[in-house]
Amino acid sequence: MVKPLRKAVLPVAGLGTRFLPATKAMPKEMLPVVDKPLIQYAVDEARAAGIEQFCMVTGRGKTALIDHFDIAFELEATLAERSKRDALALLRSEAMPPGSISTVRQQVPLGLGHAIWCARSFIGEDPFAILLPDDLVLSDTPCLEQLANVYQETGGNVVAVTQVPPEHTNRYGILKIGAAEGNRVAVEGLVEKPAPKDAPSDLSIIGRYILLPEVMTYLSMMERGAGNEVQLTDAMAKMIGHAPFHGLKFEGRRFDCGDKIGFLEAQIAFALARPDLGPAVREFLKNYVNA
Ligand code: UTP
Repeated sequence: MVKPLRKAVLPVAGLGTRFLPATKAMPKEMLPVVDKPLIQYAVDEARAAGIEQFCMVTGRGKTALIDHFDIAFELEATLAERSKRDALALLRSEAMPPGSISTVRQQVPLGLGHAIWCARSFIGEDPFAILLPDDLVLSDTPCLEQLANVYQETGGNVVAVTQVPPEHTNRYGILKIGAAEGNRVAVEGLVEKPAPKDAPSDLSIIGRYILLPEVMTYLSMMERGAGNEVQLTDAMAKMIGHAPFHGLKFEGRRFDCGDKIGFLEAQIAFALARPDLGPAVREFLKNYVNA
């Protein structure tokens, strides 16, 4: 019997420099894909996987993220007055249970590992999920639910993995893989941003993790890794051999929305997948590209 998975950490304290000037006065995680901000995709995906408690690791200028999950009384009253029932129903369907979102401040963005460590009191002794909101996955079964299904079976740590072009290994956390069983691989090693010649495989971790609370012990050592940042990958690597550790080649397609091309691809893919927008967008693309 594994401990139930009910908590998630959403690190949102990064500077989002690749999206300046859009992110000068607005958090990157509020950028919309079609009509929904990135943060809302992450929260919806987590709730679908049974997550009930959230901790956002924030920094300066991130209050829009907190307001987004609050009830907008004036807006709701105006919508009700004007009989905008669909808009009102949409807002209400997404309302979060009171007290389900906590926030902590990272203060200085010292790296993803440091951001996760800032949520240590929230995590306590429980297993938890991490979702990086700038990774979006378009799939039949939400990506975190796919990981949670593996966690139910294996316990321990489970990360979502995908193949990357061998020349791009220096951008990601890369796996050294052991035995494979279907889409699941045993993780035997982890390296953050290895040069292509040193990469143990072309399987990269994406922004979906289920981790045991012990990772906080390793993070608290505050060892600096690639880019002089406190790397989550390095702390995770220290857990290998102490508890089960699996990578899941998830079903679906990942879009790196922290990158301009990935973000634009996500807009198109998510719009095409929508029954209300897909046909019109397809038609536009066909005509525009052939013009
Ligand atoms: P990124 O590497 O995408 O960095 O962080 P960034 O600052 O958000 O964006 P760029 O590179 O400047 O354009 C990956 C995730 O880790 C979080 C980010 O918010 C993002 O969700 N993060 C990163 C933190 O919360 N704190 C950090 O110190 C670093």
